Amino acid sequence: MSRNKVTVIGAGNVGATTAQRIAEAGLADVVLVDIVEGLPQGKGLDLAEAAPVVGHDARIVGTNDYADTAGSDIVVVTSGLARQPGMSRDDLLAKNAGIVRAVVEQAARHSPDAILIIVTNPLDAMCHVALQASGFPRERVLGMAGVLDSARFRTFIAQELGVSVEDTHAFVLGGHGDTMVPLSRYSTVAGVPITELLPPDRVKALEERTANGGAEVIALLKTGSAFYAPAASAFEMVESILLDRKRVLPCTVLLQGEFKTEGLFVGVPVVLGARGMERIFEIELTADEQAAFDRSVAAVRELVGKLPT
Ligand code: NAI
Ligand code: 2OP
Repeated sequence: MSRNKVTVIGAGNVGATTAQRIAEAGLADVVLVDIVEGLPQGKGLDLAEAAPVVGHDARIVGTNDYADTAGSDIVVVTSGLARQPGMSRDDLLAKNAGIVRAVVEQAARHSPDAILIIVTNPLDAMCHVALQASGFPRERVLGMAGVLDSARFRTFIAQELGVSVEDTHAFVLGGHGDTMVPLSRYSTVAGVPITELLPPDRVKALEERTANGGAEVIALLKTGSAFYAPAASAFEMVESILLDRKRVLPCTVLLQGEFKTEGLFVGVPVVLGARGMERIFEIELTADEQAAFDRSVAAVRELVGKLPT
């Protein structure tokens, strides 16, 4: 039996760390791709040389050539630019849209049956670009954001209550931005909603810290953005798909009427299995929750409207 094959595009912080997690779990052979010559080859070699110590047999190849990615089961897209001084959000949107379009077109040509996991920001808009560039059905174009945002919420809940992170569950829905929607009523410790465990002002504080989670790390790092938790989150999606675990995870998918939303990528709970997004897990929202979700949807729609055509 041969191992699965996962391509990770972008050998930067998120990409290389995701490749490391996948290989070191022995989950799949990994092809690491970047536009910079030598970077994926160097990191690929370094990761391969860690294998005897870590104790796994996954093959890791670094390359600038998409021919090496042929027949991948999953393609994780992390390639892109970070916002530079003097660059507006819209400039970044246009630049990363160009990068995501180019890499997805090439990757899809070599792996027509792959499942795409998009990570590059602005996430929700990049999923639209990937859907179009690949021509894949919506079941095979997924965005990673909700797992990360929910992991941050879980971390803060566990720290606040002094409990194991393992016993916390959280759902953060909507776009991956300031308007994301941490759903406290569905966020629990050992099955008990945090709204029954904490006073409203503390719940609100945790929700706000979650929505600001990416910016909090950027402010500390100063030269880049988070990558350990993002890579762990991408890994969790890869694992659920390759092992057909059917985990219920918040992922960014194209809604076609679900959650009262049509034709837009936003984060909702989905069942992730061998076929990619196997089902959207529709949960009841209160009027206030739906209103917050709708605000997030409006923000994503505005951004998507600015995508270069
Ligand atoms: P990074 O700067 O460390 O790595 C990006 C890599 O992409 C670089 O190695 C660069 O050479 C490569 N690249 C650029 N253009 C390329 C092309 N045309 N083809 C192939 N490779 C290309 O950045 P980092 O920290 O790894 O972040 C990557 C992206 O992921 C960013 O857009 C970031 O905002 C996003 N991100 C999204 C998260 C989410 O929750 N969705 C969480 C964390 C990061
Ligand atoms: C994050 O949430 C920057 O989207 C990235 O850390």
